[in-house]
Order: sequence, then structure tokens, then C-alpha cells
Amino acid sequence: MELKLASGFAFDYGNLFGEGKVTAADLEEYAPAIQQAHAAVTHMRQTGLVRGHLSKDGAPEPVLFSQLPYVSPEHLNSPASLAHLEELSRWARDEADAVVSLGIGGSYLGNKVLFDVHCGEFWNLQTREQRDGWPEIYFSGNNIDPRRTSDLICHLAHKAQVAKTHAKRPFTVLLLVISKSGGTLDTMSNFMVLYEALTQTKNVRVQVAAVTDPDEEHLTLLKKLAMEKGWPTYRVPDGIGGRFSVFCDVGLTLAACIGFDIPEFLRGAREMDEACQTENIWQNPAMLNAALKFIAGEKYGRDLEVMMPYGDYLKSLSEWYIQLLAESLGKQYDREGREVCYGRTPLAAVGTTDMHAQTQQHQEGKLNKIVQFIRVEQWPEDRMIPNVFPEAAPLAAISGVTMAQALEAARQSNAEALTANHRFNALFSLPELSAYHLGALMYMLSLSIAYEGELADVDAFNQPGVEAYKKLMGPRLAALKH
Ligand code: PA5
Repeated sequence: MELKLASGFAFDYGNLFGEGKVTAADLEEYAPAIQQAHAAVTHMRQTGLVRGHLSKDGAPEPVLFSQLPYVSPEHLNSPASLAHLEELSRWARDEADAVVSLGIGGSYLGNKVLFDVHCGEFWNLQTREQRDGWPEIYFSGNNIDPRRTSDLICHLAHKAQVAKTHAKRPFTVLLLVISKSGGTLDTMSNFMVLYEALTQTKNVRVQVAAVTDPDEEHLTLLKKLAMEKGWPTYRVPDGIGGRFSVFCDVGLTLAACIGFDIPEFLRGAREMDEACQTENIWQNPAMLNAALKFIAGEKYGRDLEVMMPYGDYLKSLSEWYIQLLAESLGKQYDREGREVCYGRTPLAAVGTTDMHAQTQQHQEGKLNKIVQFIRVEQWPEDRMIPNVFPEAAPLAAISGVTMAQALEAARQSNAEALTANHRFNALFSLPELSAYHLGALMYMLSLSIAYEGELADVDAFNQPGVEAYKKLMGPRLAALKH
């Protein structure tokens, strides 16, 4: 049972829908709510309004992420904003030796996905020629970890020394500081530590670019600093929440520094958005995904979702999805103020790695999970597993197939075993791991969250729960100074 789009993207929901799973009768029962959800999502797309959504200051706030795939002069992504990104791209290629992307939560997780998928694990170990002229990329600000930050400073100082000795030139580091609010402790503390250390390090040339809320009436700290210091700025506009920001300058600035195909990424998102405009649930992957998972939770107690792509470089996609699902749908109150304590708990996994760690629990633990697989159909590189030790019969038996075939055989076996033991699971299939298909998948998951927020009647676009610890942490930090 599969919903397949013209792009080749497919949602196989056969192990989530049918006898002993979410049934046709269930969908029938929820049909009015699903129709209403579709009307609300259509309204959001057309007007930017979502019923009951308020910013953390309690003011009405638009929800505009569904505008991002459409590049036009009146939109958040415009020909002018893309031209500004191209300038960054040219500068990064011509001038930067290293870029440090500083951010946390929504200002980090999507960027890490783009980096992992496009660059892979060994990017920074390659020569500049092998990287096609693009700079090395590092991440920071995603924790307040003194050891890692010190290690990063030492590493960059060493690189600068090597540049001096071998190339007799300075080592240029771009600090790409990403914070919508412009004052997040984790990001800004790392920025200040790195800025001070690197500006005092011999042979390092430090440049800064700031990605923050552009509102000139209520300047963020970061925006103010950027204006004072003359740093170039990029925008996280009003109406774009952190976890939906990979399609705006948050993700696109990093994309510009690695040669990631921005137009294709946005085209994938746009074509997915167009595909999801139909009210026919069997042709609308975002709506179908939301409805099946919502009902699986409400009627069958499946209130955990394991995001399990098969492939190492997609692990960060699971981590990005954790934030998207957790912050959007984990809500104590519905929009009428009734206590509902809604939300599926997300778990990150990766195949085949976690088949040797988590699968025991998925297969035999509490009947409370949906395992969501992601499969890449065509890998750009594949290798035959050779029969190099014919004398070792068990090894000979696993040879003669490609690694991609073995990976998919493992996934299929996992799905079949789970299904045989009444474990709900589903599959998103991407024809290949391109910017286009990644854009389509990340957008579909974002839109699906909007649908599920409507079905559960919770505000999917706020995160009041993260304020609780922040209120306690401020005074605690202040007390430390005394
Ligand atoms: O989704 C969110 O809103 C959060 O995860 C934020 O992205 C995160 O807290 C970082 O915030 P900021 O970009 O303001 O530094």
C-alpha cells in the first residue's frame, strides 16, 4: 500500500493501515476532523494564520514556513535574498578557510542535516581541491561544553599555524552566528569565547556573519552588534519558528557555504507543498501521515515514534525530526486550555546500527511505538561485497550482493519482523539523496506536523514548556557571579 508522487517520493503505509492496525473505519470516524484539519492548513498557507497560535509574549504571530519554498519578490525567500546568499557563497569559496556555524535547536539541527547529506564525514579531512574549493565546516553553540570548545579553538589555531608555515598566508575563519532571538546563552557564550580566542590567535583572520530576526524596531542583541560592527546579516523572519527554519536563511546560509543546491532544495519543498494541497487523503502524504499517526496514538496507544533512516548520513535527520515532533506536539494544554498532555515521544535511530541496539525493544517491548523507516533507493556509490575469503563459508554467503542491497534487505527484514509481531511501522522512500528529495521530505514532515496540531487541537508552533527551565537558569547564572 503506497502513496507515490510523480517525483518518485513514496509513502508505504501498508504496515500502519489495515486489519489489526489503523483501519478504514477509524479513518471514516475521524474524517470530519481530518477535513477540518485540511481546511485549517489551507487557511494557514493562504493567510499565515493558525487559530490560537500566540508568540511567547502572548501576541498573535503568523505562521509562514509554507511560504518559504516559493521564491518571489513579496515572499520571505526572494530573488534579492537568494542573491545575498550567492554573495556569501562566492565569499566563502574565495576567502574562507573554515566556517563555524554557531547555533542550537532550530538554529543548528537542520544545518547539520544539510552538511551531513552533502558533505559526509570526511569533508574537513579532504583537500580544498577535493572539496571543490569550499571551506572546512565546524559546528559550535550546540552545547556549552568547555572541552569541545577548547578543542575547536586549538584545532583552528593549529590550522592557522600550518597555513602560515606552508602557505605563508592568514587562515580565514567565518563565524556564522545563527540565533533568531539573538541572545541564546548556548550560542552566544560559544560565540564570545571563540571570537575572543580567535581574534587573539596569531595568523587567524576572523569574519562574522549574523543570522537573526531582522526587526529593526526591536533589535535583537545580535542584530545590534552586527549593525555596530558592520557584520553582514541574514534573516530569520517573523513567522518562522526555529524548527521550521531550514528553508530560510538559517539553513540556506550554511548551504551557501558548502555548495549545496539551494534552488533544488526549495523546488523539492515546493513540489511537495503543491502535492499536499489536495484534500484527497490518499494523494496527500503530509495529511495521510498525520492522520494515521494521530489515530495510532489515540486509538492504539502508539505514542512513541522511532525515526529510523537507513544510512549513516541521515542520522542527523532523525535528530532534526526529534525537535520538530517534540517541540511542536508535546503540549500539556489544547487550544481551549484543557489539559491533554498530548504528543508522541520521538526517538532517533539509524539502520542498520540500531538494529543491534534498539530493535529488541521495538520488536518485543511495550506495544507503544511506530517505527518510521526512511530508505534511499539509489546510492551514488555502491560496492559489491566481495568473496575474498572463500574458505570461510559464512562470509562467502554474505558476498555477491552490493552494500545497498544488503542495507535494504536488512530494512525489509526489520519491517517484516515488526509487522509479524503487530508492531506498527511505515516507510518513506526517496529515489536518491539529492537536495531536491531532501527538501521534499523535510517539508512534508513539517507540514504533517501542522496537520497533526490541528487534529490534536494543540498549538504546534509555540514551545511554552522550554520557558520553565529558562526562568530558573537566569537567576542561577547571576548567582554564580557572586
Ligand atoms: O525551535 C525553537 O524555537 C528552538 O529550538 C530555537 O531554535 C532554539 O532555542 C534556538 O533559538 P535562537 O535561534 O533564538 O537562538
